[in-house]
Amino acid sequence: MYIRTPEEERVGRILAEAGGGLLDEPVPVWSWSLTRGLWRADGGVEAGTGSPEGVLAFIAAHEGPGIFQLRDFHEPMRESPAVRRWLRDLYELCRGRRKYIVVTSPVRAVPAELDRAVLYMELRPPDLTEIVSFLRDETRELPSPPGDELLRTLAPALQGLTLDETRYALRRALAAGGGLSEASWQTLLEEKRMLVNRGGVLEFISTPTTMDIIGGLENLKRWLLERRKLFDMRESLSQEIVPKGLLMMGIPGCGKSLCVKAISSHFQLPLYRMDMVEVFSGRYGSPEVAFADACKMMEDLAPAVLWFDEIEMAVTSTESSGEQGRIFAFFLTWMQEKTPGLFVAATANRIDLLPAEMIRKGRFDEVFFVDLPTEEERMEIFRIHLSRRGHDAEALNISQLMEFTQGWTGAEIEQCVIAAITKAKLEDTPVKAQDLLTLAAKQVPLSRTMKEQINHIRAWAFERAIKATPPKGYAK
Ligand SMILES: Nc1ncnc2c1ncn2[C@@H]1O[C@H](COP(=O)(O)OP(=O)(O)O)[C@@H](O)[C@H]1O
Ligand SMILES: [Mg+2]
Repeated sequence: MYIRTPEEERVGRILAEAGGGLLDEPVPVWSWSLTRGLWRADGGVEAGTGSPEGVLAFIAAHEGPGIFQLRDFHEPMRESPAVRRWLRDLYELCRGRRKYIVVTSPVRAVPAELDRAVLYMELRPPDLTEIVSFLRDETRELPSPPGDELLRTLAPALQGLTLDETRYALRRALAAGGGLSEASWQTLLEEKRMLVNRGGVLEFISTPTTMDIIGGLENLKRWLLERRKLFDMRESLSQEIVPKGLLMMGIPGCGKSLCVKAISSHFQLPLYRMDMVEVFSGRYGSPEVAFADACKMMEDLAPAVLWFDEIEMAVTSTESSGEQGRIFAFFLTWMQEKTPGLFVAATANRIDLLPAEMIRKGRFDEVFFVDLPTEEERMEIFRIHLSRRGHDAEALNISQLMEFTQGWTGAEIEQCVIAAITKAKLEDTPVKAQDLLTLAAKQVPLSRTMKEQINHIRAWAFERAIKATPPKGYAK
């Protein structure tokens, strides 16, 4: 058997458990590494087993059953024809004799001639049960050990980590808080953030936002409130009604990215962003492999929200189209089969570039079109951005701004508010309604200069997506 994993110690423990009780009679377990040779469970080292050939000769000559864990044996397998020949002979010699060879390695490197004689497995990171029991063991000696209920609440923050990484995270949380509590969640997540950022393709995004910071888009908000209920119940629901994710398309600067962040905090899940530009950069190997690896890693990190920002990049970058087609096909299948604990939020500006299969029902639960904000929505966005910065919107008479802000995006409204506050600060006066008005009247919104493009986007989305804003203003 060949197990790909960075956790050779954990495999060692699993094998010890298997040898001790899972088979019908106990089977002793040995471990081998190039630096130590072959040692027994009691620590004693077998003579003459320092070299790869030496240990294989020992296994061949050994009478009786045994499990032999060969750590990092992919190197000798790759380099030495003699070792490869030995292993093929051993396959015949061990078969039916209750002698098992288990190669552990952090990389997959099975030589072609052994491919058919080896059972290949990937050891996934520990599941919740294993994490909880590990945490229990690690915290037993504390002055006041945490209860199982708390451990079960905290365990999801550690899903996707190896046991070693789990231990680092735990130590950091203990050092920071003096003990474990509900509040340790954030510190525990920190380890995941570092793990994910090391990979380069995924990015952990911290999201201190709530739904309230989005102005308008009431249809979208209502949908999310409903889906959250279903998503929370995902363990007890059939897979087809567990929310898979949504696609938001529309005019730049109208709050798509903002919504994704709000979703993750509303769902109380960590948010990860997949950077399609990095995937296609070639810095992380072939884009196809980098993409598939990142998707798989995300499944280990579930429950979580996974964000594909500007997903049209994946289908329209200038790289070879064959590669893109394969990534795209992989993505569509993966969306159907991924673990239910992963909620996918995709955003796109150039929606006309997305292929029809992507938009078709069944991939995403819903496709939303985020248009330029209506008059009521613009008022609300002004209100949000002013009050976030400590200013009273009513006193500033924002309704008089509506005439001048037609066709504005949320981002432009925010910029106008910032400009007015900056001006007031420079002049050392309070923000004045007149300043907002003057600034608003001067600005030419992007939508006017890009009229053609925006009409194109609207026409395209009209038949294919649901409006994030309900028709006729909005009903609260
Ligand atoms: N509906 C909205 N409500 C509140 N703020 C908004 C809204 N739309 C845009 N903004 C502001 O504009 C900024 C940029 O919007 P963003 O979400 O990045 O747009 P998009 O991803 O659609 O291009 C946001 O961070 C937010 O401050
Ligand atoms: Mg965006």
